[in-house]
Amino acid sequence: MNPLNHVAIIMDGNGRWGLKNKKSRNAGHKAGLKTVEKIIKESLKNKVKHLTLYAFSTENWKRPKKEINFLFNLLENFLQNRINELHKQDIKLKIIGVKNFSSKLNKLLNSSEKKTSKNKKLQINLALNYGSKFELINAFKDLHKNKDKISEKNFSKYLQTKNIPDPDILIRTGNTKRLSNFLLWQLAYAEIFFEKKLWPDFNERDYNKIIKNFRKIKRNFGNI
Ligand code: FPP
Repeated sequence: MNPLNHVAIIMDGNGRWGLKNKKSRNAGHKAGLKTVEKIIKESLKNKVKHLTLYAFSTENWKRPKKEINFLFNLLENFLQNRINELHKQDIKLKIIGVKNFSSKLNKLLNSSEKKTSKNKKLQINLALNYGSKFELINAFKDLHKNKDKISEKNFSKYLQTKNIPDPDILIRTGNTKRLSNFLLWQLAYAEIFFEKKLWPDFNERDYNKIIKNFRKIKRNFGNI
């Protein structure tokens, strides 16, 4: 049975869910947050050590301002209301991506990371203003600047995911099969599960089914 350390998720389909069910894309994001909470709980039950969630990409800035503001308000409220609970559950929060938000949100993100930094049970890596190509270019630049020998190990040190093991599983909901500039280096050997369901409809049973299937896969890592 494969050990499971790290699950990464592209939570796609909020907008379509919201339009279909509530005539508003933002209602889909609100519903998507409920799924986030369910999946955090289920990750704890499954003893997953890292859960990486793609919440906002560098490309998502192209969306209407109203939607962007809604998403960041949702995140702000979530952290304000839930960070103590996450802390009590021994969950560590780490932001990957560039924190160039309002000073209020930046402060909240920093204080949430600091508060939970020693926690051990589950690490949530929240990808915010994250783009893999940007991350890779910066890692190349830093490697060059420090005149480090080029190797996989040295290179990984300059990524935002430094000290985070590569994902074992990538889940993308929303019936779309692409990587959308997410963890292009880190996903080299991940088992990929594309889900038809939209993120707000994704539930514990779907998650556990994926984990069960993953456990049975023969992972060769290039071997036979
Ligand atoms: C992709 O669906 C989803 C996002 C860009 C945002 C993800 C946000 C959440 C799940 C809720 C907030 C989470 C936190 C942690 C506060 P889409 O909008 O691209 O959907 P579509 O493909 O149907 O348009």
